[in-house]
Amino acid sequence: MSNDAIVLLKQDHKEIKKVFREFQNAGENATQRKGDLVARMIELLTVHTYIENEVMYPEVRKLLPDLEDDVLESYEEHHVADVLVTELSAMSPDAERFDAKTTVLIENVLHHIEEEEDEWFPKVREGLGRKQLTMIGERMQAARMKAPRSPAQPSALKKTIDAVLN
Ligand SMILES: [Fe+2]
Ligand SMILES: [Fe+2]
Repeated sequence: MSNDAIVLLKQDHKEIKKVFREFQNAGENATQRKGDLVARMIELLTVHTYIENEVMYPEVRKLLPDLEDDVLESYEEHHVADVLVTELSAMSPDAERFDAKTTVLIENVLHHIEEEEDEWFPKVREGLGRKQLTMIGERMQAARMKAPRSPAQPSALKKTIDAVLN
């Protein structure tokens, strides 16, 4: 199995998009199922954002300074997703705005994934060798082990507060 950072992140994206599609196809009245799917989304997004914020983004910023603007824009997109994820995690699936908020989260994250995969990950692939990408991937897998699973956990909360204050 590859530990290439970009391969690993794209695998996460695929899994996240699958849950998005399941939500979109769940139908009007599947309140319980949609609640479960959103809980799954929250977990996947919390972990994925954590490993990108902690490892991938700072490494790319350091090694490929030309990509700084892309990385900074991506941090801001993570922040928007964090806010929606935090709100959704405190919301009941039968709340009036639950579906609407989830739909906005899905739209935002799909746009963000597209920018990563189509715009700046290819430049990272070009700029870094396979060996470097594997080292970053291995560090991400280690970070995954200690990643928060929900936005209410202290390390996730701290990340959101830092993003607001900085
Ligand atoms: Fe991202
Ligand atoms: Fe990503």
